[in-house]
Amino acid sequence: MSLRKITLRILRYKPDRFDPPRYQEFALKADPETTVLDALETLRLQQDPTLMYRHSCHHSSCGTCACKINGRERLACITRIDELEDSVIELAPLDGFTASGDLVVDMSPFYADMAPDWDYLKKCAKVQTTPPPEGVNAYERFEDCIECGACVSACPVTPKKNGFLGPAVLAALSAELKKSPQRSKHLLATAGDDRGERLCDRALNCSRVCPTGVYPARHIADLRKLLARETN
Ligand code: SF4
Ligand code: FES
Repeated sequence: MSLRKITLRILRYKPDRFDPPRYQEFALKADPETTVLDALETLRLQQDPTLMYRHSCHHSSCGTCACKINGRERLACITRIDELEDSVIELAPLDGFTASGDLVVDMSPFYADMAPDWDYLKKCAKVQTTPPPEGVNAYERFEDCIECGACVSACPVTPKKNGFLGPAVLAALSAELKKSPQRSKHLLATAGDDRGERLCDRALNCSRVCPTGVYPARHIADLRKLLARETN
C-alpha cells in the first residue's frame, strides 16, 4: 500500500476558538483507496481530537457525513481520496444550515417541515442488483432519501428566499402524494403555498448532488404539473 501525502484544509468553527470560522490545514499521509471520512478519522486520532464531524454507517446509508468536499456536496464516507485530483482537500460544512462546530450543522430545520404523519418508509424502485443471500427471496429497498441535506446546501434558492420548503421536503411530499393519493388535496395545498414549489428556480443542483438518486427536481416538476392541472 503506497500512502499519498495530502492536505486537509478544513473550515473550523468553534465558539471562542475559531470564531469567526477560518480554514486550518493539516498534512497527513493517506491510502488513496480510502475515503475522506477515513482521513478525518486518522486526523482526529493522530493530530486533533477536537475536530468535529458526523458519521454513523460508513456506507452511504445514514446521510450524516454529508459536507462540502472541494466545493461540492458529497458524502465523506464514499468519497475516495483517489477520485479527488487535488492533493489539497478542502472541507466545509453544508451551506443553508447553522454550523454547530467544524463540519457539523444543525439539521433540525430540515425535519421541521416534514409532517409527522408522512410515512417514513416508502418502497422504492431502486433495488440492489447483487443476488440476495441464500434463504432471502429478493431485496426490498425502502426510502431512497437518506436525509443528508446535500440538496438543501446545493440549492441556490434557500439562502435568498427564506422559508422555501426546499428540495428534500418537496421530494418527500411528492413521494407521499404518490403513496397516499386520497390525501392529495391537503398535500398539494402544502406544495402550492407560498413556501412551496413556486419558489424553485429550476437550477437542478439538488438532483446533481443527491447521492442516492432521489432526483428532487423531478419530484418538484411532478408537483408543478399536478398543481397546474388543478388550476386549469
Ligand atoms: S433528496 Fe438526496 S440530497 Fe436531498 S436529503 Fe435526500 S438523499 Fe440527501
Ligand atoms: S457515514 Fe453514513 S452516509 Fe456517510
